[in-house]
Amino acid sequence: MLFHSLIFVLSSTLVFSANLRDSLDIAGITAVFPGDLKYANASSTFNLRFDYKPAVVTYPQTPEDISEILKISSALNLKAAARSGSHSYIANGVGGKDGAVVIDMQNFNKITVQASTGTALIESGNRLGDIALALSENGRAIPHGNCPYIGFGGHAAYGGIGFTSRMWGLTLDTIKSIDMVLANGTILTVSNERNSDLFWGIRGSGGSFGITTSFKVQTFPEPPSTTVFDYIWTLDVDSISKGINALEAYAQTDIPPEINPWVAFSRGPYRATVVFQVTGVWYGPEGKLNETIAPFLKNMPDAPQVTLTPGSYINSLELLAGGSLDVHTKPDGHDTFYAKSLMTPEDSPLSLEARTAFAHYLANEGFESIMDWAVGIELWGGKNSAVNAIPLDATSFAHRSSTLTIQFYASSPNKLPPFPDEGFAFLDNMVDSIVSNGPKGWDYGTYTNYIDDRLSDWQNRYYGAHYPRLQNLKVKYDPLDVFAFPTVVEE
Ligand SMILES: Cc1cc2nc3c(=O)[nH]c(=O)nc-3n(C[C@H](O)[C@H](O)[C@H](O)COP(=O)(O)OP(=O)(O)OC[C@H]3O[C@@H](n4cnc5c(N)ncnc54)[C@H](O)[C@@H]3O)c2cc1C
Ligand SMILES: *[C@@H]1O[C@H](CO)[C@@H](O)[C@H](O)[C@H]1NC(C)=O
Ligand SMILES: *[C@@H]1O[C@H](CO)[C@@H](O)[C@H](O)[C@H]1NC(C)=O
Ligand SMILES: *[C@@H]1O[C@H](CO)[C@@H](O)[C@H](O)[C@H]1NC(C)=O
Repeated sequence: MLFHSLIFVLSSTLVFSANLRDSLDIAGITAVFPGDLKYANASSTFNLRFDYKPAVVTYPQTPEDISEILKISSALNLKAAARSGSHSYIANGVGGKDGAVVIDMQNFNKITVQASTGTALIESGNRLGDIALALSENGRAIPHGNCPYIGFGGHAAYGGIGFTSRMWGLTLDTIKSIDMVLANGTILTVSNERNSDLFWGIRGSGGSFGITTSFKVQTFPEPPSTTVFDYIWTLDVDSISKGINALEAYAQTDIPPEINPWVAFSRGPYRATVVFQVTGVWYGPEGKLNETIAPFLKNMPDAPQVTLTPGSYINSLELLAGGSLDVHTKPDGHDTFYAKSLMTPEDSPLSLEARTAFAHYLANEGFESIMDWAVGIELWGGKNSAVNAIPLDATSFAHRSSTLTIQFYASSPNKLPPFPDEGFAFLDNMVDSIVSNGPKGWDYGTYTNYIDDRLSDWQNRYYGAHYPRLQNLKVKYDPLDVFAFPTVVEE
């Protein structure tokens, strides 16, 4: 009996993988299978905490190829996932589990700018560094994050925040129309005029409904000048708490959208201290940074270490990227990490108790921890923020009234696997120092691009009030759940 069923399982697996191989071969699609020399590299992702084994990694050249791959996946009852930059925090670019058909978008790498309208066509497999350089050649820009290796497909599907966002919004706010492929292989264009329900859903929850191949976006003229600013303090618990309060208070004054101070916390030189670094870019008139940021600095301790770097827009991006936007000469790095996020509602800022407990945690548990950690506070809102000027229901992105997004990030000590178990508790307790000292039932959000595989109430935290509407779209556009990864919209 046992012997027979073993033979059966074995032979059906063989038939099955032969089917997949033959079908892709007949369709003329380049593919890398388990056992191939290139498989280890082809299936690796940015976060080495995960080592999933895809059924195959495919490299389509056209939307028609993607259509074929999706039809083959459905016919064999396999899950499929697009991978653009492979920067998902939880390896969702390879499906977030074993056995997926990975659709690598690297051949979708065209960028064209139409000077007369200021629109650009950006294919999904492009990295942010290439996009910034190509747009800048035309004197144009869009809002996006700082790491040049991030792929456009994932970044634009879920948000896209950077220092220009208070001025220009999220990456997804620039999208006018999208070319994409549905789970059943249908190729279509979505916009406010065509398939507007899907256009709404893709902008905030992209990966759940289809594979995007190209985006038409509205670009902005590059700011004529920029100043990257950097103020560094070493602070004790009381001053850390006051510093966070100073940022929240500053955000409520009539600050211009061209200012965007973000805080980075790191381990202090002594127990009970933290390094508190405020970094951002000033896009307003040259020479006006000091007076613009003075109301914040006056509530901070004296004598930070200051670095102000004036330059062109592209210089500011290069500096923030660590020197260069070129993603081709140096291969992308890796990390082994866990991350969480928390978005504070405008009408319910961090309490004194929450700030103090959090500051105490960073300065003490943070000092002791073996983890290589970094915590950041991003200013998404505040007065005059373009992110929050977009009506909540205009896109499926669920958080249009947050002031701060806090990101909690911990890497293994040498950035290589294995990820120590205590790293999870370290971050869980860090977030808890804030949440358990917040109001009861505090309605904070979490950011879908800082995706967390261990978040229990993720439907509400990620998608908020939009979740039921997204579930209806899932029924309509992916009834067979071809796209099924952790935190996917579920029917
Ligand atoms: C070092 C680092 C720095 C970061 N900095 C920032 C930052 O400053 N601001 C910010 O907003 N975010 C930032 N992020 C988060 C980043 O925006 C997300 O991880 C983003 O989803 C990555 O997109 P990707 O295409 O590189 O990833 P992938 O792993 O390829 O994809 C991520 C998800 O999107 C889906 N997807 C990818 N391409 C497509 C497509 N063509 N069609 C449909 N679905 C697709 C994937 O299936 C997967 O679910 C950072 C991430 C890292 C690792
Ligand atoms: C590994 O894959 C990346 C893209 O996913 C590619 O750029 C790189 O050349 C590959 N490296 C090797 C050694 O094949
Ligand atoms: C702005 O302030 C910095 C200190 O924060 C100072 O070094 C610099 O000279 C000032 N710039 C101007 C133009 O006043
Ligand atoms: C694919 O799905 C779309 C959206 O539900 C539908 O309009 C279309 O008819 C389907 N195509 C096929 C071939 O089933």
